[in-house]
Amino acid sequence: MANADAISADQQVARIFEWRRGFNTIHLIDVGVRLGLFKALADTPGSTAEEIAARLQLHAPYVSVWCKTAYGMELLDADEGPRYRLAPHFEVILAAPSHPRYLGGYVRLGTEVAAEDFKRCLQAFRTAEVKPFQGRGDDFNQAIAESTQGLQVVTAKKILPGLDGLSARLDAGGALLEVGCGTGNLLLQLAKAFPKARVIGVDIEADSLTAARTKIAAAGLQERVEARQGTVASAVQPGSVDAVVMIEVLHEIAPALRPGVIRESAAALRAGGWLVIVDETYPTSLEEMRRPEFKFPLMTGFEELLWGNVIPTREEQEKLQRDAGLTGPIERSLIGEGFTVLCTRK
Ligand SMILES: C[S@@+](CC[C@H](N)C(=O)[O-])C[C@H]1O[C@@H](n2cnc3c(N)ncnc32)[C@H](O)[C@@H]1O
Repeated sequence: MANADAISADQQVARIFEWRRGFNTIHLIDVGVRLGLFKALADTPGSTAEEIAARLQLHAPYVSVWCKTAYGMELLDADEGPRYRLAPHFEVILAAPSHPRYLGGYVRLGTEVAAEDFKRCLQAFRTAEVKPFQGRGDDFNQAIAESTQGLQVVTAKKILPGLDGLSARLDAGGALLEVGCGTGNLLLQLAKAFPKARVIGVDIEADSLTAARTKIAAAGLQERVEARQGTVASAVQPGSVDAVVMIEVLHEIAPALRPGVIRESAAALRAGGWLVIVDETYPTSLEEMRRPEFKFPLMTGFEELLWGNVIPTREEQEKLQRDAGLTGPIERSLIGEGFTVLCTRK
């Protein structure tokens, strides 16, 4: 790419137009998710724009342009009429909020949250101001919970059950700790996946914890599931849990606080227990910055700049674990768009 002969000005121009189309397409998707257009097409495939507009009480000419554009972007397929239906797989990706592949929440984080933060960038680059994750309100917390849902399902159903000896310990009445439990969706899934285990969540965000406690009570799980506010050390006794799980949390913790959180998490584990970190890994070299698996974390680093977040590099992640006294092998794998799964045994 650096070689001016290897790429033409027209190609560079085309890249800008492609990204600009991506910006519009994300907003097109957002409109479709929020107005229920994808859901209507999932429920009644083969509808005309006018039929959908009538059903949702929307302005038909606008729905018609939305449908044509979505067809052009291959979000919709169509037969003569035109009668529209969703292109393959979008019924779960854009119309089924409880499905692990649902991305409506992630799109909303872009149009609602990132768009606002990007506007603040001009000022923030001069002043270094930060608008942290905490205290952004229920809608924000809900959008976060929706966007991490797929990771939560994979963690509860695949990653934890695959760890040597963990299921047996949990079936025998062991305990799981989730650090940064947010609004508590994973706590409920863990309770379901391991019906004999005690499940404790800890977070520092009061509003999210209120939402988590409401969900725990609604599911009738207060006996064995709890969401606590405070530090890890204040939430659980040392040597009392069989696994500590963190999903998209390490990079949210201020770098100066990370050693303490990981040290307390390691201390909370029983001997042979697992620390499971699902998070993003920042590239360390120029070569890594252009590798496909680092694109997502690279973009998160920019998108969450104003949240005060700093994505840890591989070296930082591993040093935190070593400094916390976890000296065993660190198993690393990549899942999804660019998430790292780190599993270490005490
Ligand atoms: C991106 S959210 C992820 C929430 C949840 N794990 C999920 O998957 O939806 C990060 C969470 O980490 C929490 N957090 C940040 N710093 C923390 C700390 N020092 N101790 C505990 N939780 C923390 C935030 O308040 C937030 O709820």
